[in-house]
Amino acid sequence: MAKLLSTGVSRRRVLQGGAALTAAATVPTGWAIAQAKPLKVGLMLPYSGTFAKLGENITIAVEMVIAEKGGKLGGREIELVKLDDESKPELAPQNADRLVKRDQVDVLIGTVHSGVQMGIHKVVKESGTLTIVPNAGNNAVTRELCAKNVFRTSFTNWQPAHGMGLALGKRGIKKAAWITWDYAAGAESGEGFKQGLEKNGGQLVQMLTLPFPQTNFQPLLAQVPGLGVDYVGAFFAGGGAVQFVKDYAAAGLKVPLCGSGFLTEGVLGAQGPAAEGMETALHYGDGIDNPVNAAFRKAFKDKAGRDADVYAVQGYDAGQLLAIGLEAVKGKIEDEANLYKAMENAKLESPRGPAKMSKDHNIIHNIYLRKAQGGENKVIGIAAEQLADPGTGCKIA
Ligand code: PHB
Repeated sequence: MAKLLSTGVSRRRVLQGGAALTAAATVPTGWAIAQAKPLKVGLMLPYSGTFAKLGENITIAVEMVIAEKGGKLGGREIELVKLDDESKPELAPQNADRLVKRDQVDVLIGTVHSGVQMGIHKVVKESGTLTIVPNAGNNAVTRELCAKNVFRTSFTNWQPAHGMGLALGKRGIKKAAWITWDYAAGAESGEGFKQGLEKNGGQLVQMLTLPFPQTNFQPLLAQVPGLGVDYVGAFFAGGGAVQFVKDYAAAGLKVPLCGSGFLTEGVLGAQGPAAEGMETALHYGDGIDNPVNAAFRKAFKDKAGRDADVYAVQGYDAGQLLAIGLEAVKGKIEDEANLYKAMENAKLESPRGPAKMSKDHNIIHNIYLRKAQGGENKVIGIAAEQLADPGTGCKIA
């Protein structure tokens, strides 16, 4: 029995077996016992390192949803189990395994870093654990490696950068370069940017990279004047983004800088005047005028003591999607068919504006064009309306 209990899949079978036995005996039924137990939700996120604040904002927003629903989702108490993944891909398989097998979580919400997500993905595809990705954008998770038990409320790396490339291309920009960390999120966002430019006759002439999470940008910035480009686009986030934008401004380059919106998201205060006037593209921004956003921003600020950002929105929507699924099955997470159906059909009341799930379990949403002004990422237009990832190679059985 102890051995059986050591995997998520076996545990589910044990619960069902228990249900049959006790139902035959008398009350309370096994089902009632299972429902009375809190539902364990693992939060595998970075709480240290360059992405620490991203993980914290996601966590605060997930907790907000649970609190808004009176501490219960679908009638089940929620117990959170937090694990700091440190944004270290090499630790990801064992960390995910710990949550799924040792802590026996019913749901896993994670993570931020695309490389770490690959480790989680391998584990949860095998265990069948319901998983909601609240940030990491690696395309494969909802393309060729998509899975029926894995949903993403954030973006693919391709989506925001594609919007930025489209916006520049439409403006007649012919040549651009991309600077980023050398890992999935950097490369895939660069590819999205390139495809966006190409749709309007532009071209990506160079991709410059350095290892994650290094911040020695000088050797890359020194190459910019020689590239003959009209624009530089970039993907960096968290602490690395603060440093990159400051170093770019200090280098006094004549070429304007733009990027995936993560470059200026949640970090404008720290970047100061270096970010002023920068354009970026993202599925969130300042000035999105809808009642859900207004209430969300106020509640987040009350709880966190700082302004909400895209990471908080993605965490909030991860919590909302879980709530929608669990409410549809009245907390009976074993009812996978109905749980997944409700989540697939979910129309999220997202602070970002209209958003729904795609058939490959990624999110469809607007990519806004934003301009950094006076400490805000002001929305100045829509770079791509209701943009879906291509979802290439995804077959969900
Ligand atoms: C990623 O690794 O997928 C990633 C990390 C931070 C971001 C966006 C994407 O802000």
